[in-house]
Amino acid sequence: MSYMLFNNEIVERSKCVDIEDRGYQFGDGVYEVVGVYSGEPMLMDEHLQRLERSAKEIQLNLPYTMPELKRQLTQLAAQNQLEEGIIYLQVSRGASPRWHEFPEGNIPAVTVAYTREEERMTDIEDNGGTAVLTEDMRWLRCDIKSLNLLPNVMAKQKAVENNAVEAILHRGDTVTEASASNVFMVKNDKVYTHPANNYILNGITRQKILELCGEHTIPVVEETFTVKQLLEADEVFVSATKSDIIPILKVDDHTIADGTPGKITHQILKHFRMFISQIEKNVHS
Ligand code: PDD
Repeated sequence: MSYMLFNNEIVERSKCVDIEDRGYQFGDGVYEVVGVYSGEPMLMDEHLQRLERSAKEIQLNLPYTMPELKRQLTQLAAQNQLEEGIIYLQVSRGASPRWHEFPEGNIPAVTVAYTREEERMTDIEDNGGTAVLTEDMRWLRCDIKSLNLLPNVMAKQKAVENNAVEAILHRGDTVTEASASNVFMVKNDKVYTHPANNYILNGITRQKILELCGEHTIPVVEETFTVKQLLEADEVFVSATKSDIIPILKVDDHTIADGTPGKITHQILKHFRMFISQIEKNVHS
């Protein structure tokens, strides 16, 4: 049996959605995806902080404190005996008759969370994959992790139809991020990634990578780069929760450098894995 979090209760998983839930009808809500490694939720505080920020930016009052949510999510993962996978959490602006504006009165937000088993993607992390390019058609507040994901869905579908792992998005000439991950390129031993502003989601994995680069004196430049620079890069990789770091060997028809995973990407992946295994060790010792 599988359990889900529904508001502040862990209940048997059901497939019922109130048809007037604003998350369902308008995408009016925010979400997070937390990775679970060897039974341990990773970077949960960072994910919950981002949830808090996303909610604030859309003027949604979160019904629970972050310590309360953390406790509930940790219990949910344990109750579902989740070893490897993700916790999905979303908070919508509640259920009420369908009018676009915020509901009047004190409609409670609806919180739902469930878990999903997912193997680690070590094969593709080690060996890399390909990506396609597509225009970034999203709104101008991509820093908010909102439930509105239609442009991301369309982009990822294009990737899958081309046997690619990701669709790299660009606004005009500028590379922003990917359909469900952040994008990095390496040129002359420096790591480049789009600055954390309204054009990208500031990934929790991205932030950890930047921290690890700092600790290991790998130079990072948080500046925009163009599609041309991406195609001429020495290395390209993408990052996201649970898929961690994936080297990109080819973008559309352009092979990146010699078409093998790059040396700096490999170093960063090694440091990231060390970080994960350190936490696993601390928890299980
Ligand atoms: N997506 N950019 C976008 C557009 C994303 O959707 C994601 C994550 C990221 C990476 O963020 P993080 O490192 O915090 O996972 C960047 C999640 C995994 C999803 O929607 O399933």
